[in-house]
Amino acid sequence: MIVLGLEGTAEKTGVGVIDSEGNILFNKTVMYKPPVQGINPREAADHHAETFPKLIKEAFEYVPKEEIDLVAFSQGPGLGPSLRVTATAARTLALSMKKPIIGVNHCIAHVEIGKLVTDAQDPLTLYVSGGNTQILAYVGGRYRIFGETLDIAIGNCLDQFARNCGLPHPGGPYVEKLAKEGSRLLDLPYTIKGMDITFSGLLTAAIKKYEQGERLENVCFSLQEVAFSMLTEITERALAHTDKGEVMLVGGVAVNGRLREMLRDMCEEQGVDFYVPRRDLCGDNGVMIAYLGLLMYLSGRRMSIEETKPIPNYRSDTVEVTWIDEEGG
Ligand code: ATP
Ligand code: FE2
Repeated sequence: MIVLGLEGTAEKTGVGVIDSEGNILFNKTVMYKPPVQGINPREAADHHAETFPKLIKEAFEYVPKEEIDLVAFSQGPGLGPSLRVTATAARTLALSMKKPIIGVNHCIAHVEIGKLVTDAQDPLTLYVSGGNTQILAYVGGRYRIFGETLDIAIGNCLDQFARNCGLPHPGGPYVEKLAKEGSRLLDLPYTIKGMDITFSGLLTAAIKKYEQGERLENVCFSLQEVAFSMLTEITERALAHTDKGEVMLVGGVAVNGRLREMLRDMCEEQGVDFYVPRRDLCGDNGVMIAYLGLLMYLSGRRMSIEETKPIPNYRSDTVEVTWIDEEGG
């Protein structure tokens, strides 16, 4: 069986193709470059509308159209306009090819592709990106959220900070690079509320330090130290709650070396295994959508066209997990 997946929850347009043996036959992502003010949801949606046909055409050069058995798409969570274009592209494709269609939860797709390409089997997952920051684990038949940001995502925090300091978008890689040259740990707010965290106070305080004349390298260093310590602490707390033996790090921010280092150290202390998928499968991509669609389809899930409406606030714990057996394998 061969599945084509469309990813379009935010600013990246992705198309991927996978077969039922887990072979990745095609995977390409094109990023919409937002103007300096940040993402404009309508423009991101226009970018998807322009890019999907091109990427789908390219995918068919690798895997002939006739060989596709199922169309999967990211149904949410995400930006309304982006999700609508993605769902429309998927419906048009499925109807024209007379193939079944399945909408999938984007966050769970990150976890499942991670499990496919690493040795993780039943991990506690820290998912950190421009639009999401949450800790997920499969417990009691569902992917439950054990901690999350109460305001902005970590990637958004880094990007907004960078933008305010004149760095290009996306700012995460620039902050990481500059942080390596910083050494002074500045006093910045560290906010954990139970299992959850907030970043907006930290963001405002970091921008203020820069505006007051502190060296950008030191502010980047401190911002990373504080933000990543918060993430590491809530992951450690969630580990105690869930009793999992593995931690997996996914999402665009997962490529950050310092975050990996902090989590790896914590995992070593706790005696649990630590996994990160390869770089191109950490961030948003089409193949993770195709893969979750495949798992759902093979476990008997079917979707009518009426069920394919976008779900902007799609919570992972509302998804009935039909593809994992009792032991979590
Ligand atoms: P989602 O829809 O899942 O929220 P996204 O659209 O934000 O995803 P991703 O590729 O998952 O896309 O993540 C992009 C984010 O990753 C950006 O905020 C970017 O700054 C951040 N990022 C990329 N590289 C690094 C890095 N080296 N260090 C820190 N952050 C990084
Ligand atoms: Fe994502």
